[in-house]
Amino acid sequence: MRPEKLIHLADAAVAARRMAYAPYSGFAVGAAVATADGQLFTGCNVENASYGGCLCAERVAAAAAVAAGHRRWQALAIALPGGGTPCGICRQFLSEFAEDLLILAIDTDRPTAPPHRYQLQQLYPHGFSGRDLQAGPPKPPTP
Ligand code: THU
Repeated sequence: MRPEKLIHLADAAVAARRMAYAPYSGFAVGAAVATADGQLFTGCNVENASYGGCLCAERVAAAAAVAAGHRRWQALAIALPGGGTPCGICRQFLSEFAEDLLILAIDTDRPTAPPHRYQLQQLYPHGFSGRDLQAGPPKPPTP
């Protein structure tokens, strides 16, 4: 992606963070996915009183892209304090659609610092995929 497009993507993730619903953790996260044809879909974390129901920003953005018919992506940006990387569930979720996605991590505590860049393959090597399901059913454990 061209540098100006990456800046636009990063800005969208920062803006989406303002919509975070995070009353339990107080930790707001924004995300934005750039599709193969250059559209942007954004997400924020959406928490729930039943904590297991919390959704991460990355999966909200990714699901919005899929729901709009966009399954091919160029890059995903996340914006969060400290500039951390997507959690394990999100890595698995993203790898379903883009095993080697470019990920930009924006530290909202350092808004002028350039985002860290990762490839999903680097963050999540040897993930589980549909290819593994085609290996056939697992053998039942021996008692
Ligand atoms: N969170 C995300 O949205 N993305 C991540 O990659 C890590 C964590 C959210 C989930 C929860 O609402 C809050 O941050 C604290 O974990």
